[in-house]
Amino acid sequence: MKLVIGPASPLLGKRIAEKCGLEIAETVYKRFPDGELYARVIGRDERFVVVQSLNSNEDLVYLMLIFDAISDSDIIAVIPYMGYARQDKAFLDGEAVSIRAVAKMIESYADTVITVNIHSKEAAGHFKKLIDLDAMRVIGDYYRGRDIVMISPDLGSLERVKRAAEFAGCEFDYLEKKRIDAETVIVTPKKIDVSGRDVVIVDDIISTGGTVIEAAKQLSCRSIEAACVHAVLASNALNKLYNAGISKVIATDTIEKAVSILTVSDLISEEIKRLI
Ligand code: R5P
Repeated sequence: MKLVIGPASPLLGKRIAEKCGLEIAETVYKRFPDGELYARVIGRDERFVVVQSLNSNEDLVYLMLIFDAISDSDIIAVIPYMGYARQDKAFLDGEAVSIRAVAKMIESYADTVITVNIHSKEAAGHFKKLIDLDAMRVIGDYYRGRDIVMISPDLGSLERVKRAAEFAGCEFDYLEKKRIDAETVIVTPKKIDVSGRDVVIVDDIISTGGTVIEAAKQLSCRSIEAACVHAVLASNALNKLYNAGISKVIATDTIEKAVSILTVSDLISEEIKRLI
């Protein structure tokens, strides 16, 4: 069995290969002058692990080409960040359900699909079978022993934040909207008074940063950090977060950015070792 490292996940791919003791397959990736992409996996094997996050259209095309190159073999697909998962239903008549299309492509090649904190249960439901790992342990472990309050930006993310807080051994809460009168809505932590406290806003994805920035505006506390699994960080998001007073942003290596100081390689390697 060999491991194919896709162009989106070089660090994480190498970490997983080392932890699983798997040989890294030699690969060639390039772009033709007209923009088309090319992938080659040198050497055959009965079984491959492919590690490639989907944070761009290019990542998706490369994944498909890698799959085709090894389509004679059994494939364990590790997609640490499952892009396109936020379009998990048709919100408007006639819309594509993007994750359904992506799931069909992936499952037409891969026998097993592993991801990390896919955006929603609905998105996971478009796969016949998906192993969805939870990186809240990784975030929680990083903050263990710190006197912080973890805040979920909304009720929807509370369960996730609760898990991270349990690993960290810290308090947690979520932001609740309260309507005071017809014109006034206030947003405050539901239970905990955070004044004078150090707060960490925890989310699965930071994309534009809008969710974290809006949450930060509602918090009157000593300091605010933000932690997420997937650092999409689109549209100059990191600058916007710093400008909004977020003192530190950290993420895992499902997407490889400068802030990706945590790793999900142990989580994924444990799962691969169970499968092989
Ligand atoms: C929403 O459901 C997700 O949990 C994130 O809160 C969202 O994707 C973050 O996006 P943005 O950074 O663009 O606000």
